[in-house]
Amino acid sequence: MRDLRGRTALVTGASRNIGAVIARSLAAEGMSLVLAARSRPDLDAIAAEIAGGGGTVLAVPTDVTDAGSLKALVQAARDRFPTLDVLVNNAGTIEVGDFAELDLAAIEATMRVDLVAPMLLSRLVLPVMLAQGRGHIVNMSSLAGRFGLPGIETYCAAKAGVANFSAALRAAYRLRGVSASAILPGYVHGAGMYQQVQDRTHLPTPRAQGSSSPGAVARAVVRAIRLDLPEVVVSPRPMRPMIALQGLFPAMTERLVSTLGGNWYQRAGDALEGRTSRP
Ligand SMILES: NC(=O)c1ccc[n+]([C@@H]2O[C@H](COP(=O)([O-])OP(=O)(O)OC[C@H]3O[C@@H](n4cnc5c(N)ncnc54)[C@H](OP(=O)(O)O)[C@@H]3O)[C@@H](O)[C@H]2O)c1
Repeated sequence: MRDLRGRTALVTGASRNIGAVIARSLAAEGMSLVLAARSRPDLDAIAAEIAGGGGTVLAVPTDVTDAGSLKALVQAARDRFPTLDVLVNNAGTIEVGDFAELDLAAIEATMRVDLVAPMLLSRLVLPVMLAQGRGHIVNMSSLAGRFGLPGIETYCAAKAGVANFSAALRAAYRLRGVSASAILPGYVHGAGMYQQVQDRTHLPTPRAQGSSSPGAVARAVVRAIRLDLPEVVVSPRPMRPMIALQGLFPAMTERLVSTLGGNWYQRAGDALEGRTSRP
């Protein structure tokens, strides 16, 4: 979708951090915005900021794990705007700890936010987009969805699922005008769930991986929509060769990821925060 001006985007998890930055970037592209998250005051603050800059915006408090809330969100968007052109499934959560000790409720809660909600919301907007003959769904995955990391097994599973869900949506609907992209950021600094861990643990980011800004993630979202890209990796390091290596030589890449510090970082964080006694 080359021209975003005048189109409408729905962004979940827009109340703070990466989602708020994505919303501001899409507004700067001239898009009307529907912002969704649970916390009304935070959503309203982002909405007021975008409206203050001349943007058109609707804030809809939403719990993405609640099917009724998702339905009401799409209805509110349809009532307010003539079209619904872009969906950014950005809302996410992470459960950190020793997987063997996690209870089922924690695993299910993570899967509901990170995987099931993007699927349900996509299912609700697809008929609208197909009727328009135009639409783009962006799903926020993660490099954790490509390289399994210890201590965040559920997150890794959900993020792998959401990336492959994107690919399948693309295969199913692209010829009918509706496409999809997955965004795969590595560590993001400055705001968000990784920065929160950094603020608590003060562990150095594994140098081999580095970290990106929320702005880089937002630029990747805009690029994915404009150029209709299947997936965009967001990292300061060349991660595509690593992904290719993993496909060709999974055992070697497993050792490489560990040597480059990914496993150490997760384990050290867990130990520092008292979630596990593992070294
Ligand atoms: N930060 C990173 O390093 C990093 C790296 C790779 C990928 N990602 C992905 O990027 C996305 C954004 O990450 P972030 O770091 O900005 O996360 P964050 O700071 O934890 O923010 C999460 C957002 O999701 C919303 N959310 C969570 N549960 C929700 C629910 N049940 N219903 C509705 N909204 C919900 C939150 O709003 P409310 O609490 O107001 O509902 C918030 O706006 C996530 O999908 C994450 O997995 C992040």
